[in-house]
Amino acid sequence: MKIGIDKIGFYVPSYYMDMRELATYRGIDPNKWTIGIGQEKMAVAPLTSDVVAMAANAAASILTPEDKASIDQVIVGTESGVDFSKSIATFVHEMLGIQPFAKAFEIKQACYGATAGLQMACDYVRLRPERKVLVIATDIARYGLNTGGEATQGAGAVAMLVSAMPRILAIDEKSYMHTNHQFDFWRPNHSEYALVDGQFSTKLYQDEFVTILEEATRHHPTLLDSLEAIVFHLPFTKMGRKALLAYEASGAPESHLSRWLSHYDQASYLNRMVGNIYTGSMFLSLLSLLAMDDSLQEGQRLGLFSYGSGAVAELIIGQLQPGFAAMIDKAAILAHLERREALTVERYETVFLSKVCEEDTPYQALESGYYLKKVVNHQRIYDYQQ
Ligand code: COA
Repeated sequence: MKIGIDKIGFYVPSYYMDMRELATYRGIDPNKWTIGIGQEKMAVAPLTSDVVAMAANAAASILTPEDKASIDQVIVGTESGVDFSKSIATFVHEMLGIQPFAKAFEIKQACYGATAGLQMACDYVRLRPERKVLVIATDIARYGLNTGGEATQGAGAVAMLVSAMPRILAIDEKSYMHTNHQFDFWRPNHSEYALVDGQFSTKLYQDEFVTILEEATRHHPTLLDSLEAIVFHLPFTKMGRKALLAYEASGAPESHLSRWLSHYDQASYLNRMVGNIYTGSMFLSLLSLLAMDDSLQEGQRLGLFSYGSGAVAELIIGQLQPGFAAMIDKAAILAHLERREALTVERYETVFLSKVCEEDTPYQALESGYYLKKVVNHQRIYDYQQ
């Protein structure tokens, strides 16, 4: 029986910062960020669009009442949780009205967390094909103002409904994974911002990609021939391209490279317009490929390369299902991006530095959807604006 992604939706906050404008303000050649790193716009999250609200909005965009009655698990992958103890998933379970006899929890392993969630979801549904699992990746990527990583920030959430007989992507049981204990990117409990050894991290990512592809080839010599495209975890859109070139430099067949590169711009378009959303980045790239690449065909197989610093990597294999294109609303996706308001650098810095605190006056919603309304007795309270 086929198991996999039946629906996929995403949410980005209503603000963005133009990368050319920010680079110029910082005294950096804009081409370094738009060409060298590959980012056009960076999503900026106001306090009302925290990771919980973004997760709820992403999931609300795909779920029907029937889905909510069939979901047995809400799994959230994140590295920007709002609480050391209580999971984002418990908020989302209540906000969306998922049936009560379900479980809800959070998974952490840098940008890899939601991939672990997806695999757990597939395994669960494989044993109980009449049930469904909601998997959400939600994050706000923060390196700090005027830091080396500033151009690789962003915010957003991707939600996926995992079911039997999926209408978008069936996921193979077999995947290829690798763990390698390193400090390339991490955020100790005392630190508000991520710590990163940027050059080491980008090198480690490429090494992990090559290692996994070599391991996959050892197990299944014709696997890579069967992959029409690979989508990548994209902390910045140049990253996957660097990994492909590293694989070629390791002696891989050039024929794969040209085929995989022919889909690369489409698979990174949304990431280029949103920035880094940590756990959701690979799934945003998948959505981008599905929405932007008209050449994709039913039955084609895709590789999904997930990388979480620290480091865990996994290559998942999926197959496009009959009618998959009808499950992706390209016009709605582009309209969701277009609705956003551009910030000046001054406003971006103000929004970036603002902090959630307990106040008598509730926050005002900036648009329709779920939003953080207030914090009372250290408890986050959410509301829905029509
Ligand atoms: N025009 C065009 N390209 C330019 C340029 C210009 N004026 N100036 C620089 N570049 C290119 C560089 O050649 C380089 O490209 P290459 O890597 O293909 O050679 C790219 O822009 C970045 O330049 P670099 O000097 O390496 O930038 P940096 O030292 O500021 O570091 C990051 C860039 C991405 C490493 C840094 O922003 C970072 O640490 N980000 C977070 C780390 C991360 O995301 N790790 C991955 C975790 S999964």
